[in-house]
Amino acid sequence: MAQGKDAMTKATFYDEAKTYWEDIPPTVNGMLGGYGTISSADVKGSIKFIKPMLMCEWNERVGSEKALDCGAGIGRVSKHVLLPLFQSVDLVEQEQKFLDEAPSFLGEASSNVGKYICCGLQDFVPQPKHYDVIWCQWVLGHLTDEHLVNFFKRCKEGLKDGGVMCIKENISREGVIFDEQDSSVTRSSKELTKIFRKAGLKIFREEVQRNFPLEIYLVKMFALR
Ligand SMILES: C[S@@+](CC[C@H](N)C(=O)[O-])C[C@H]1O[C@@H](n2cnc3c(N)ncnc32)[C@H](O)[C@@H]1O
Repeated sequence: MAQGKDAMTKATFYDEAKTYWEDIPPTVNGMLGGYGTISSADVKGSIKFIKPMLMCEWNERVGSEKALDCGAGIGRVSKHVLLPLFQSVDLVEQEQKFLDEAPSFLGEASSNVGKYICCGLQDFVPQPKHYDVIWCQWVLGHLTDEHLVNFFKRCKEGLKDGGVMCIKENISREGVIFDEQDSSVTRSSKELTKIFRKAGLKIFREEVQRNFPLEIYLVKMFALR
């Protein structure tokens, strides 16, 4: 288990991830590591998770004005989950090639994109009190523990009052597992929860994604504030 923790301390941890993504085509299949067919189950699960938060009783309701898609790739989550639910969505992604593809992938809905931001999440600073929802999916394994805590702290500042962070990530059974193919780690719920706590974030909803192939990691969604 120390293996994943050690991998994050390598000077090449970020460079090797960048090299991996530079070679990946700007397609849904590319975004999902060859598992493009799971996109529609993924989208259904995400909508089922987030929609009740936007529709619930007035004093608990999360606003639906402005969302941020972190590690957005070509905008798969923006297109199918966020743009149908929010008035405006910003995308932050480190690979410019994916952002270049996003407007044509998003089609008409791209008129509701605010900004395309090319930046690694380890360096990204959201505007204070700007977003109702900050969505991070299948990207946080590319950040070291320390960078992830600091990223979460900055995101907390970037949320409007009553806003939420939504995290959707692969989950290991135990510890931190390194994937040398794309230079990322998969954390257990326990490891992630430790990081949430260090960042001062509390879980107020948690759900397992259903209807995914059995051979892939368990995927969980967390809503935090
Ligand atoms: C598995 S894809 C997921 C894309 C999108 N979230 C989705 O679910 O379709 C991971 C994305 O994270 C991006 N990425 C990797 N490391 C990153 C980093 N440090 N900061 C921002 N984006 C990063 C990759 O370029 C890629 O677009």
